[in-house]
Amino acid sequence: MLRHRIKKFFDRRPQGPKLQPIYYHSRISSENSFFLDLSAQPGCSHNYTWGVIQAGNSAKALGIPRISVLEFGVAGGNGLIALEKISERVSTHYDVGIDVYGFDTGIGLPQPEDYRDLPDILCQGDFPMNVGLLRQRLTKARLFLGLVEETIAEFIQSRPAPVAFISFDMDFYSSTMQGFKLLEAADTILLPRVYCFFDDVFACGDFNGERLAISDFNASHLTRKISHIYGLQYFLPNGMGNGMLWDKYYMAYIFDHAHYGKNLVGPRTMDLEPK
Ligand SMILES: C[S@@+](CC[C@H](N)C(=O)[O-])C[C@H]1O[C@@H](n2cnc3c(N)ncnc32)[C@H](O)[C@@H]1O
Repeated sequence: MLRHRIKKFFDRRPQGPKLQPIYYHSRISSENSFFLDLSAQPGCSHNYTWGVIQAGNSAKALGIPRISVLEFGVAGGNGLIALEKISERVSTHYDVGIDVYGFDTGIGLPQPEDYRDLPDILCQGDFPMNVGLLRQRLTKARLFLGLVEETIAEFIQSRPAPVAFISFDMDFYSSTMQGFKLLEAADTILLPRVYCFFDDVFACGDFNGERLAISDFNASHLTRKISHIYGLQYFLPNGMGNGMLWDKYYMAYIFDHAHYGKNLVGPRTMDLEPK
């Protein structure tokens, strides 16, 4: 009998992921139901899902018909394949074209330059790519092979659609700093706010790796800054805000972008509550 009553109690409780977020954030929470649906699709439950959705949604709100999404550091290619799959669905949902790019040496990590590249846990040749195999599996993503310090210039010169999402996963301080050259580019190839995923912010402290790269970038730029997206987990569907994933999401703010100040939300009211 008691067992029956306990079961009834749990059956009556609403299921976690279907609940509302703890707080509502007009930009973030509005996409929660699509986020839940997409995460349930085969191959689309990934660290990048939320960021690509926000990128597509931003482009739609700004009236930009085509965007680019990037992965810096591809290794075997699992992340890039997921990025392709997610982008395809997000593109259809928002009716925004999405180009997918991957950047990697193809032969694994370069030689660490100094202590900032975490030489105690990373070494030259870590995470090589099987280029032929990956190319067979990719459907549309373009690979830029070589040191990012060389390929990023080629990418910028190719005048890509504005970059809206970047995964930084090159492990090193030095490589991440090179990747940041993209955030110095003309505003025509960037969205005013670029969603960034930093995979390695738990592998380092404040004075090495990706965290040091972020603070050095911020210290040397006045009108372009990278900031953690604070409290993101509270605006996600209840039950999905757990896990370290949400502490890896940052935003690159391009304050000098021609469209930075375009309002995306519209006028709202905060009326007095009835007595
Ligand atoms: C941890 S792996 C990436 C894993 C991948 N994002 C995934 O989710 O499957 C890091 C990659 O960064 C690449 N990398 C690091 N520094 C680089 C540089 N300066 N230029 C190009 N690629 C670099 C390495 O070749 C390595 O494959």
